Amino acid sequence: MSHSAAEVEEEQIHFANVIATFKNYAQYSLAANNRRRKDLFILPREDRDILDTLGYKDKLDAVDKAILVNAEFLNQIVADPEIFGHDLGASPNDDSGVSFDSFPDENDSNGRILPGQTHSHSHDHDRGHGHTHSHDQQRSSGWSAAPTSRRPKRYKPTDFDMDKLRSTLKQFVRDWSSEGKDERDKAYEPMKEALLAHFSDIPPPERRNFRVLVPGAGLGRLAWDIAKLGFACQGNEFSHYMLLSSYLMLNKTEQIEKFTIHPYVHSFSNVPNRDAMLREVRIPDVLPTGLPPGSDFSLVAGDFEEIYGSDGEDSEEPQAGQWDAVLTCFFIDTAKNIVNYLRIIHTILAPGGVWINLGPLLWHFENNNTNDPSVELDLDEVKQLCRKIGFEISNERRIPTTYTNNSKAMLGYIYDTAFWTATKIT
Ligand SMILES: C[S@@+](CC[C@H](N)C(=O)[O-])C[C@H]1O[C@@H](n2cnc3c(N)ncnc32)[C@H](O)[C@@H]1O
Repeated sequence: MSHSAAEVEEEQIHFANVIATFKNYAQYSLAANNRRRKDLFILPREDRDILDTLGYKDKLDAVDKAILVNAEFLNQIVADPEIFGHDLGASPNDDSGVSFDSFPDENDSNGRILPGQTHSHSHDHDRGHGHTHSHDQQRSSGWSAAPTSRRPKRYKPTDFDMDKLRSTLKQFVRDWSSEGKDERDKAYEPMKEALLAHFSDIPPPERRNFRVLVPGAGLGRLAWDIAKLGFACQGNEFSHYMLLSSYLMLNKTEQIEKFTIHPYVHSFSNVPNRDAMLREVRIPDVLPTGLPPGSDFSLVAGDFEEIYGSDGEDSEEPQAGQWDAVLTCFFIDTAKNIVNYLRIIHTILAPGGVWINLGPLLWHFENNNTNDPSVELDLDEVKQLCRKIGFEISNERRIPTTYTNNSKAMLGYIYDTAFWTATKIT
């Protein structure tokens, strides 16, 4: 599928804005912390003195330091953004790790995106499972063309952009830290177990002949774990925040616990003590480049529906019937039209192929302000739909789990997620 020049330009602007968000993190976050300092001056002297005895100002200083540590890490993610440029279309494979099979030129017929290209997504790509469930899906674009030249203004990241970036830091904890293990054990382990159960008659050395797809792969840990089990595994993701971040993790990180982040320094609410807010998290907990030789692991950047749902005459790589398993974790509720998502999953699976799902139904497009359609089924309806589309559901249960949770905060959310194994029967 080729994309119009306008779509390509919009995507490039979006990519540039994401880079600007990373680069502005320190300035933005320090300013937010400084607001607390300034507020102190409005207080009566004696109140300030009492707060001094609690070490409140020292805490603000410690937060500044933690922000700078985060900034150092985030700057490494975007140190080389040109690797996501057009040139990569010629050589999508990076010899140091996972192949980012993702960055073709703009006329690529697969509908994959260069970060910075394609689809006119007017909604926000990067909505995670935020607990506040904000509906601000408008992609912010601070660029504006001057009347006489097309030179864009410097982009000023919005609160919304920064929120995405802060979520990305927490996503690193979920996927690539020892601290995230508990969350991963609850969500990823049952999925891996179900996959192994489905292929229990396949000897481990032969798993490489079975192709597993993980749409909405986030920072890639589940897909990486599956490749580690020996399957041929492909992750798919369209958020630039996720793609840039997983590139650093998967292709450029050669040491366990190489990076330090302080993911929880941005909010002072529901914090029981300093450690809960200021503690450092080391990443990664495993060596991402340490997949066994011969592993088949790739990440494809782009919209799931465009890449896997548009087998047509101009499609370079047919998808129908090509996958032995699809694993969706906190993903199906990103659909505008769940019927289409399930139909694509069904179509791309080989006969007898398996779809393993775990996740809530936090419909990302519910009440969107971008005029996107949104179909919001309840769980019973989703399961009925699965059956009508041609799946047999088994191994069904509910699994309580968190999503990018600060385990030491005074507030936490637990999703009572729906889990199932669905086999393609018709
Ligand atoms: C809630 S997150 C879950 C990430 C990961 N599966 C996990 O469990 O940590 C949903 C992910 O799906 C991605 N996503 C949403 N819609 C997508 C689409 N149409 N194509 C590709 N990725 C998509 C988002 O960017 C986000 O990273």
